[in-house]
Amino acid sequence: LQTPGAVFFIFGATGDLARRKLFPAIYSLYREGKLAQDFAVIGVARRPRTQEEFRSDIRESIREFCRYQAGDESEWIEFVEHFEYKSLDINNIGGFRELRAQTEVLEEKFHIPGNRLFYLALAPELFGSVSFNLKEGGMLDSTGWNRLVIEKPFGYDLESAEKLNEQIRQVFKEEEVYRIDHYLGKEMVQNIEVIRFANAFFEPLWNNKHIANIQITLGETVGVEDRGGYYDNAGALRDMGQNHILQLLTMIAMEPPSRLLAEDIRDEKVKVLRSLRPYASSDEVRENVVRGQYTQGLHKGKSLPAYRQEDKVDPESNTETYFAARVSVDNFRWAGVPFYIRTGKHLPVKTTEVVVEFKGMPTNVYLGQKHKLEPNLLVIRVNPMEGIYVKINAKKPGSESDIQPLAMDFCQSCMIGINSPEAYERLLHDATRGDSTYFTRWDEVSSAWSFVDRIAKAWREDSSDLASYPAGSWGPVEADKLLAKDGFHWWPVN
Ligand code: BG6
Repeated sequence: LQTPGAVFFIFGATGDLARRKLFPAIYSLYREGKLAQDFAVIGVARRPRTQEEFRSDIRESIREFCRYQAGDESEWIEFVEHFEYKSLDINNIGGFRELRAQTEVLEEKFHIPGNRLFYLALAPELFGSVSFNLKEGGMLDSTGWNRLVIEKPFGYDLESAEKLNEQIRQVFKEEEVYRIDHYLGKEMVQNIEVIRFANAFFEPLWNNKHIANIQITLGETVGVEDRGGYYDNAGALRDMGQNHILQLLTMIAMEPPSRLLAEDIRDEKVKVLRSLRPYASSDEVRENVVRGQYTQGLHKGKSLPAYRQEDKVDPESNTETYFAARVSVDNFRWAGVPFYIRTGKHLPVKTTEVVVEFKGMPTNVYLGQKHKLEPNLLVIRVNPMEGIYVKINAKKPGSESDIQPLAMDFCQSCMIGINSPEAYERLLHDATRGDSTYFTRWDEVSSAWSFVDRIAKAWREDSSDLASYPAGSWGPVEADKLLAKDGFHWWPVN
């Protein structure tokens, strides 16, 4: 499906996100014929840059990060002539008026019907003033639609998120705001819905009668890299928990929506977030949530520094680089089923995986006590491998009655010719077409913050529970105890 004609404004056009993700996404959409011919992109940033310099930045970004490579010179020129740059101080209203004039010229040149998409790849503190100046500078007085796409972190806690939201809402309506959670743009995350609702044999089992527990792991091998300044204030709970993990959890736990439309799906997701059982006290937080910070360690023979030695990190920092939690979803479907979630920096494997562990057979009547059956598992691999597998028990070939677990494996990313679109590609495409299904609505964001804030509050009161783990390991042992208390263990990640 092709997008309608539009001008894309990339605020933060000289930054990392634009270079690594946004320009490559625009080029991939163009190459796939998903972008209307009547489009233009205006890169906006403070730094002065000539049109030529900007266009050569784009070429570099595509060379380095895009799954398509630029073709011959004439094709490239045809693409890149749609790009212009505007150096702008976002507090200067005059600059926005100039931007307006520049936009109108481009709209006329490419016959663009006045649709404008503002992508703020900026620090959230700036969202409010940019929105305000877009309005004051006349950027929203066009004949088409206006949409605002914003990046995380959406606030630091509920209170700051509310403030941010109020500022934005003075200018944009909720349905014009597209809050990015790039995990929702991942192929396999979107596939969860299809696996669940299009297969007769999963949905009937998808409840507390048949499922023993669900495990969600977002493991990263990288440390904080050069983002120490941001990360030391955020920590794993805010960086990955409040958004990506809880969003994945909602996709796994939600009820089937009445229609496959954005609002119906998001209505169901928000119900899950509202059903998360809040930890009633700080003690309850400590019983159910483990946090850790990496110390010096090794990964594939390479020595890794401790978190406290990282650049721009407080040498006495108590920020968590890992957390694991036992979460309860209090509704009829999930009562009694623990959801275990975990994420961490400098773990041994880069992986996003969901494991659904099914309950055992009633009793081992048929096979006798001799056999200890492994539970059935459904494993959804989100990245970097994409696919699903089901672990079942079967007779060991050649034996009389020995049983062994075997995996029925479907590896999507192994299939020749499958090159899943990048999350940003899909999300940009969706936002331009006005499909907000895979963007987070304000009530989702606020419910997620309410849940997370209680954990953060307990942690602020007392930091004695901060565990440590060597970089390159699977996190603190305390995280294993969380499951052991319930008679479970983390399933090894492949
Ligand atoms: C971002 C976090 O949202 O997600 C980063 O801020 C993290 O800290 C990244 O590394 C992980 O994303 P992905 O797509 O590589 O799993």
